[in-house]
Amino acid sequence: MRLRHLVLTVLLVALAACASTPRQTLYQQFGERAGIEALVEELLVRVLEDPRINEGFAEVDLVNLNDRLVEQICVEVGGPCTYTGKTMAESHATLAVTEADFNALVEDLVDAMDARGIPRRAQNRLLVRLAPMHRDIVSP
Ligand code: HEM
Repeated sequence: MRLRHLVLTVLLVALAACASTPRQTLYQQFGERAGIEALVEELLVRVLEDPRINEGFAEVDLVNLNDRLVEQICVEVGGPCTYTGKTMAESHATLAVTEADFNALVEDLVDAMDARGIPRRAQNRLLVRLAPMHRDIVSP
């Protein structure tokens, strides 16, 4: 009887702890708009320093790329944003992006998310949303 009482008490305490910890939305876990802006900055620094893929970005309007990526990531993590850029098919059609390029960019993104202290579970939720874009970005 005493053991049952103890088990019940432990369960109730655990439940209370759960209820009092507010669950963050994915958007909040990314630090909302300011966190996403900082993340995209971290990402672009890495991409531009990444010898595997940086050549392709030499002639690109980086302010536009930065702003579109902020909008896109914001939308994908459920934030109150609108993506105003081109489709992934349109913007990558002539770039001849390879499988290896795609993987390199995803690695840079994971490094950037690590640097921002974004929890792995939250990172994975974004990656799952980006994965289907692969078919429109990588050239056949
Ligand atoms: C999940 C992967 C990727 C996402 C979500 C993504 C997203 C975007 C977005 C939002 C834009 C801006 C579109 C616009 O201007 O309206 C863009 C442009 C661009 N992307 Fe990606 N991209 C991805 C992968 C890649 C890869 C792997 C490369 C090459 C290594 C790449 C190279 C470029 C370049 C060079 C541009 C600029 C095109 C231009 O302004 O003419 N992207 N991308």
